Amino acid sequence: MIKKCLFPAAGYGTRFLPATKSMPKEMMPVVNKPLIEYGVEEAIEAGLDGMCLVTGRGKNTLFDHFDKNYELEHQISGTNKEDLLVDIRHLMDTASFTYIRQREMKGLGHAILTGRELIGDNPFAVVLADDLCVNEEGPGVLAQMVALYKQFRCSIVAVQEVPKEDIHKYGVISGEVIKDNIFRVDDMVEKPEPGTEPSNLAIIGRYILTPDIFELIENTEPGKGGEIQITDALLKQAKTGCVLAYKFKGKRFDCGSVDGYIEATNYCYENIYLKDKQKTELGKHSTQKSEEA
Ligand code: G1P
Repeated sequence: MIKKCLFPAAGYGTRFLPATKSMPKEMMPVVNKPLIEYGVEEAIEAGLDGMCLVTGRGKNTLFDHFDKNYELEHQISGTNKEDLLVDIRHLMDTASFTYIRQREMKGLGHAILTGRELIGDNPFAVVLADDLCVNEEGPGVLAQMVALYKQFRCSIVAVQEVPKEDIHKYGVISGEVIKDNIFRVDDMVEKPEPGTEPSNLAIIGRYILTPDIFELIENTEPGKGGEIQITDALLKQAKTGCVLAYKFKGKRFDCGSVDGYIEATNYCYENIYLKDKQKTELGKHSTQKSEEA
């Protein structure tokens, strides 16, 4: 079964300079939580408990974020500020965190291959934390994909329809519909030149990969941008075996772009943060009432 989730987190986040000059882009907060934490929560919700981070230079705050901060714990111990650490404490108790450093930036395929030692010989998930996905109507995107994997036992990429003018920013698939929202991939192109895209279905940063992908990546030549692309390795897998594309339920925000990041912030503030706050306050109110009774 799928237990591990790989987080490629070595990139420079240049679209967010100067904010990302010394801070990893995965630590950018959406409301009061860093992007990486949303990704880890989504993985835990999908039943995964081994978080494998592929990091790079200048990413030390990622290690610190998922570790105990004794000074802080001591300072706020016994105060109502402790409530603010409940979620991350739970997350640290539930999951284990392992790290490996990618010394050179040679593309997403190369980042995934760098994580091989942490993953081993099992199917695994990949989350690109700057694609923030939420689904308030039901299970998260990764949980939907894990359920699908149980049925089909092959690699799966999450896809979304995107407007024609934006499609060149993504890996793009084409395929035959085999069920509602599920396609069997027959073509896949990384960031196609305008006018050559095989469809309007863009790959979003959620993948389930079977471990034979590592060997395929090893034998993949640099592609778009001179980088080793996971899209190219997956196309080989699709041609020799099976890769599915899944049009997921839920919303996705491109937090690698300023517009998407602001949209995510507004959405999460209104639909997650404020609602949680209301629930907590209602909870406190009713405890107070029952204590008074
Ligand atoms: C990566 C992948 C691309 C995918 C995208 C999703 O590109 O290479 O296929 O569509 O993530 O966010 P990047 O955005 O890292 O350039």
